[in-house]
Amino acid sequence: MKKEWSPSTWRSKPIKQVPAYPDQRALAQAEERIGTWPPLVFAGEARALRQSLAEVCEGKAFLLQGGDCAESFAEHGADNIRDFFRVFLQMSIVLTFGASKPVVKVGRIAGQFAKPRSSDNETQGEITLPSYRGDIINGIDFDTESRIPDPERLKMAYRQSAATLNLLRAFAQGGYANLENVHQWMLGFVKGSPQAARYEEVAERISDSMALMRAIGITAENNPQLRETPFYTSHEALLLGYEQALTRTDSITGDWYATSGHMVWIGDRTRQPDHAHVEFCRGIRNPIGLKCGPSLDPEELVRLTEILNPQNAPGRLTLIARFGHDQVEQYLPKLIRAVEKEGRKVIWSCDPMHGNTITANGYKTRPFQRVLTEVESFFAVHRAEGTHPGGIHVEMTGKNVTECTGGARAITAEDLSDRYHTHCDPRLNAEQAVELSFKVAELLKSDRQECPEKMVVNA
Ligand code: PEP
Ligand code: CO
Repeated sequence: MKKEWSPSTWRSKPIKQVPAYPDQRALAQAEERIGTWPPLVFAGEARALRQSLAEVCEGKAFLLQGGDCAESFAEHGADNIRDFFRVFLQMSIVLTFGASKPVVKVGRIAGQFAKPRSSDNETQGEITLPSYRGDIINGIDFDTESRIPDPERLKMAYRQSAATLNLLRAFAQGGYANLENVHQWMLGFVKGSPQAARYEEVAERISDSMALMRAIGITAENNPQLRETPFYTSHEALLLGYEQALTRTDSITGDWYATSGHMVWIGDRTRQPDHAHVEFCRGIRNPIGLKCGPSLDPEELVRLTEILNPQNAPGRLTLIARFGHDQVEQYLPKLIRAVEKEGRKVIWSCDPMHGNTITANGYKTRPFQRVLTEVESFFAVHRAEGTHPGGIHVEMTGKNVTECTGGARAITAEDLSDRYHTHCDPRLNAEQAVELSFKVAELLKSDRQECPEKMVVNA
């Protein structure tokens, strides 16, 4: 691979998942305009995330990444963002307790708009139209007009991301995330929720610890760690024209950074080593994710780690395994061994969603039990290989939707039609997300108790 890189070198490479914009001039103008707009995130923040992820890589922290499959323009509102953020905090507190390690929080939010599709077209009855590719590209309504890719949508996506990020920053730093509020985060639970009681117990223990610390003079007022939390954003770097427009040089280091979000990832369908998405991502200095599905060959993975992380820096590259509940044991060990053999520094994270999608009652859904099984297998394989299960990557919402079947409240295939709101893949609802965190917390705790040699003690 040629070494020269610029934010536009991807344009001369083969590329998959490209929308057919009828008006290329209008697209170029929209990209040019966005290129003049302020960055959404700063290089220094992306660097701070990389440092935190380096801790994850060494087994000293755990990564929680999650959010919508696809954000939508229609559902952009303060309540949705607050509900998401609250569940995310609940999950991360539960995980912190299980792992006794810091949890690095990265939302799939404030930029997660573009979707890869398995087919270019969608047919309903007699009519075939271009597939919906996410609100940044075209509309979800099944009509000719709405499915035409519209460059104005890039600007809408930028503005929505800016507003979302603004509120998230306020929540993370303006008091909402204050650990003193741990009981207030309970408000989101539905009455009689099976998870509420378990969460209440954790909240009680935190309150007790806070009271003790207050007694010895450590308070939220004099300790920012107690009243604020670092929260980062991420999305799939799929629509490269948009990403290029927001790629800027950092004035401090002179390096290139994508400023559309703190972390971006390469999807399972666009990770060909000589193609455009890998070319774009190799040149930016943000933390990068790489989805790893069953079709990924171990040698190709090693090659990708060399292209994407030539300096082998810990925290730069997160491998997001998504094989399906019954395929983890078949595929993951080979990949881990190949990476370990070459001494490549990576974080292994588990996406238990994308290999477990089925259709029931005419709805795309994911049985919650399979989500749990995939996570369990992921942990078991890492235990056997002596490597760190570094994180989880989930599709979730703070709302009480019915999109994935199962969970403590046992959503059935018949229930799916009640509150099925996703614009793309089925998400865990708030209760399922917290239930999953309790499962992961248990796994982390038993790793901690049974494999103390894997625990790295902070010097
Ligand atoms: C996604 O994360 O929404 C996605 C499309 O995942 P994958 O690339 O793993 O299929
Ligand atoms: Co998805």
